[in-house]
Amino acid sequence: MIRDQQPDDDAVVRQLVEDAFRGRPYSDGSEAPIVEALRAAGVLTVALVAEEDGEIVGQVAFSPITINGTARDWYGLGPVAVRPDRQGQGIGQALIRAGLDRIRALGAEGCVLAGAPGYYGRFGFAADPRLQSPGIPAQYFLVLPFGAEVPDGTVTFHAAFGVEP
Ligand SMILES: CC(C)(COP(=O)(O)OP(=O)(O)OC[C@H]1O[C@@H](n2cnc3c(N)ncnc32)[C@H](O)[C@@H]1OP(=O)(O)O)[C@@H](O)C(=O)NCCC(=O)NCCS
Repeated sequence: MIRDQQPDDDAVVRQLVEDAFRGRPYSDGSEAPIVEALRAAGVLTVALVAEEDGEIVGQVAFSPITINGTARDWYGLGPVAVRPDRQGQGIGQALIRAGLDRIRALGAEGCVLAGAPGYYGRFGFAADPRLQSPGIPAQYFLVLPFGAEVPDGTVTFHAAFGVEP
């Protein structure tokens, strides 16, 4: 079952995100505090959890980004995490697809993320020379437009992504 994350879920989600990212070479340990900082800033536009037998087994968050400093109907995906013992069973894909549907229904024009092209390509994400984000290597900065238009420019994620680990 996929549902909206509630404030009551925060402690479980924090633990899950920490466990999922622990030891990953691309993690600096800030992913769990990022979710909380996004909520505290009121910019957790969509936050979903996957629940099975009453236990939370996965989480995904979406927050607004800016392009060339201007707010647009574009969102950043992340963090996304699945409990280590439940990875590779389709939970991440289900969460991401449900989340993309939700932001599309809110009128989003597209979504961006930093991640592995081999995983996110299945949802239609791809590097796009029109958009970049400082500090993220071009091949890992992935874009999914929902319409024909992709603005040119520099993407900035919400300041919550700069929270200390
Ligand atoms: C990434 C993550 C959210 C995917 O969720 P999941 O439920 O494990 O993945 P799914 O079952 O939906 O998909 C499994 C597929 O993803 C692939 N996959 C998982 N992580 C991948 C990665 N980093 N790069 C490429 N492929 C990846 C698996 O090989 C598998 O491929 P297949 O469908 O061709 O067999 C989860 O593995 C996770 O929490 N990882 C640790 C935290 C993390 O890295 N988050 C994303 C940071 S960008």
